[in-house]
Amino acid sequence: MIFWGAKEIMARIKLGVLASGRGSNFQAIIDAIEAGRLDAGISILITDRKDAFAIERAKRHGIDYLHIDPKEFKDRDTYFSHIADELRRRGVELVILAGFMRVVGKSLIEPFRNRIMNIHPALLPSFPGLHAQKQAVDYGARISGCTVHFVDEGMDTGPIIIQAAVPVFDGDTEESLSDRILKQEHKIFPMAIQLFAEGRLEVVGRKVKIKDYSVIDDALING
Ligand code: GRF
Repeated sequence: MIFWGAKEIMARIKLGVLASGRGSNFQAIIDAIEAGRLDAGISILITDRKDAFAIERAKRHGIDYLHIDPKEFKDRDTYFSHIADELRRRGVELVILAGFMRVVGKSLIEPFRNRIMNIHPALLPSFPGLHAQKQAVDYGARISGCTVHFVDEGMDTGPIIIQAAVPVFDGDTEESLSDRILKQEHKIFPMAIQLFAEGRLEVVGRKVKIKDYSVIDDALING
């Protein structure tokens, strides 16, 4: 008789990752999987840009990828319904927006309600939208950070899963603050995905309840 350990019988959650650019968050997720910190598999990387460096990362790690060009579709809903089909075809259970620079259409949000996660480089609801780090510097915020949230129809408005805070120093530029925040992004994105994989996230209204959760890391990371 063969006995399987709990980990072996637990099906790994299937991720579909959408990215537009350099893909450092995509890399952090790959690294967490390879290090055994994240019980997930990446079924597909989809990019909207042919030159996204994320594609190189997928190649290096033997991950399937697709470039789906929005220009080939008549509107946003047709584009995202095609993406939804590609994700469903591969049995994707959780969609990860890892630096995907497009507003997601409802043809993807509806079939994957509360199963799409995004990372935003600010402490939402402050500084939604583009150039969040520059917005924080220009505003004179003393603390900023990053947020992992589920995606809804609004711009960075979905239920918040985890946030991490960092200080903003005098003399910080958009670049220096972005670097500081990015280090935290790479920590909390895999954490949030792992919580989902363990079935510990429940969306209640606009809040996310985390089962059996006390403190993950330190006072500045809170989920
Ligand atoms: C990150 O700052 C993320 O918060 C934002 O876009 C950037 C993507 O960076 N949504 P990368 O492509 O993951 O390196």
